[in-house]
Amino acid sequence: MHCYSKLSLLALASVASIASARPSSLDTRGAANEACTNGKAIYITSNTAQNSIVAVPIAQNGSLIVNQGSSTATGGSGASGITASSGAAAGPDSLFSQSAIALAGQYLFAVNPGSNTVSMLAIDAQDATKLTAVGSPATLPGEFPNTVAASDKYKIVCVGLTGATAGVACAPYSSAGIGAVDALRPFALNQTTPPGGPLNTVSQCDQTTLYVTVKGDPTVNNTGFLAAFPVQNTRSSCHAAASVASTGVTSSPSGTAVLFGSEVIKGSTDLFVTDASFGGAVLSVDATGKASTVGKGVIDGQAATCWVAISPATNTAFVADVGVDRLVEMSVTNATILGSPIDLTAISNGDPGLTDLRAAGSFVYALSPGNGTTDASVVVVNALTRAAVEHVSVASLGLTKSAQGMAILV
Ligand SMILES: *[C@@H]1O[C@H](CO)[C@@H](O)[C@H](O)[C@H]1NC(C)=O
Ligand SMILES: *[C@@H]1O[C@H](CO)[C@@H](O)[C@H](O)[C@H]1NC(C)=O
Ligand SMILES: *[C@@H]1O[C@H](CO)[C@@H](O)[C@H](O)[C@H]1NC(C)=O
Ligand SMILES: *[C@@H]1O[C@H](CO)[C@@H](O)[C@H](O)[C@H]1NC(C)=O
Ligand SMILES: *[C@@H]1O[C@H](CO)[C@@H](O)[C@H](O)[C@H]1NC(C)=O
Repeated sequence: MHCYSKLSLLALASVASIASARPSSLDTRGAANEACTNGKAIYITSNTAQNSIVAVPIAQNGSLIVNQGSSTATGGSGASGITASSGAAAGPDSLFSQSAIALAGQYLFAVNPGSNTVSMLAIDAQDATKLTAVGSPATLPGEFPNTVAASDKYKIVCVGLTGATAGVACAPYSSAGIGAVDALRPFALNQTTPPGGPLNTVSQCDQTTLYVTVKGDPTVNNTGFLAAFPVQNTRSSCHAAASVASTGVTSSPSGTAVLFGSEVIKGSTDLFVTDASFGGAVLSVDATGKASTVGKGVIDGQAATCWVAISPATNTAFVADVGVDRLVEMSVTNATILGSPIDLTAISNGDPGLTDLRAAGSFVYALSPGNGTTDASVVVVNALTRAAVEHVSVASLGLTKSAQGMAILV
C-alpha cells in the first residue's frame, strides 16, 4: 500500500521532461506524510444560471460537514447540454465531462458554459469554504466550455470547449487573475451550442502534457481520440512564461471509442481513462505523444463508465457510472477489475448513478447529481475497506441535477 501526495501527482502531471513529451521521472517532492492525510474540503459547481461553487468541509475522520458548507458565485452562467437521444436538458452529467472545476495550489478554476468564460477563485488559507473571486471571468474563444485543467507548477489554465466552436484554449494566471487567453486549438466536432451529447463531445483536459479526451460516436463511425499538447518553455522560468503548444498529436488507441475521464498514473507514463462504451483502460503515451492501449477492463452490466479517481491510499482506480449506483475498483497497471463492484444502493436512497469523484487520504468522494426526483448527494467510500461510509444530500447548498465537477483540497 502506498501513500502519494496530491503534490507529487501534480508534479508528475507537469513534468519537465515534457520537452521530450515523456514524463520519465517521478518528482517526489511533497510525497511525505501529508499524502496520507484526509482532504480539507470538496468543491462542486452548481452549473445553474448563476453558476456557483459549493464547498463542503471534510472532518478529520473523512466525513462531510454539510451544514458548514458554502456557495460562492463564479460570476458566470451555467448551462446544460442536450441529451441527444431525448432532446431534453442533460442532467445528471449536464456537461458530458470530467473536471468542470480544477484546483491548482490555493486556486480554483471553474467553467461557465452559459457565458463562455472560465472563473478563478482563491481559497482562504484558514477556511477552505471561504472563496474569493480573483479578477473577472476570462472570455474564451469558443463555445460551451465544459472541462478545465490547471497547473500550479506552470501557472497555466486550459479549458476544453464543446459547442459549435469547439477545441482547447489556454491562459497564464497569476495572483491578479487569468491573463490573455491564447488561440483556440480547434476540434472539428460539428457540434451545436449547447451541444447534443454525451457522444461526440470533449470530455476532459488533464494538465500533464496537456491531455484532452474527446468522445467519438460509434453510431456514426466517428472515432474518439486523445490529443496531447506539450507544455513549452518550461525551463526558462525567469523570462518566457510556460505555454501550451498550438498543435498536438491525436491518437485513437485501439479498442477505445468514447474516451471520457482520465487521470495520470503516478510513477509511470501511463494514463488511466474511462470509456463510456465499456469501462476503463490504461493507456501508454510514447515519446511522440501517441497513445496505445496497455490494458482494458470491460465492466459487466455497465451503462456509461465516465469518471475516474485514483486513490492515494490504494493506488487503484475507482470508476463511476452515471447509470449504475456503484463504484468499480480497477488496477492502474492493466485496468483489471479488482474485487466485486462496491454496491451503494443500500446507503444511497435511490441515486440513479454517480458522476464526478475524487480521492484523498483513505476516502473517495463521489457525486450523484440525482435526476430531479432524488437529491444531489455525495457518497463517501473508504478506499481501503471498500465500505460506504456515508451518503449526504447536498441539495441544501443549492445543488441540483445540473451539478457537475469535483475538486478536493488536501
Ligand atoms: C466523523 O466526524 C464528524 C464530525 O466531527 C462526526 O459528526 C461523525 O460522527 C464522525 N463519524 C464517525 C463515523 O466517527
Ligand atoms: C454536421 O451536423 C449536421 C446536423 O447538425 C449534419 O446535417 C451534417 O451532416 C453534419 N456534418 C458532418 C460532416 O458530420
Ligand atoms: C464504419 O466504417 C467501416 C469501415 O470503414 C465500414 O465498414 C462501416 O460500414 C461503417 N459503419 C457505418 C455505420 O457507417
Ligand atoms: C494485471 O496487473 C496485475 C498487477 O497489478 C497482475 O497481477 C495481473 O496478472 C495482470 N493481469 C493481466 C491480465 O495482465
Ligand atoms: C429518478 O430516479 C428515481 C429512483 O431511481 C425514480 O423513481 C424516478 O422516477 C426518477 N425520476 C426521473 C425524473 O427520472
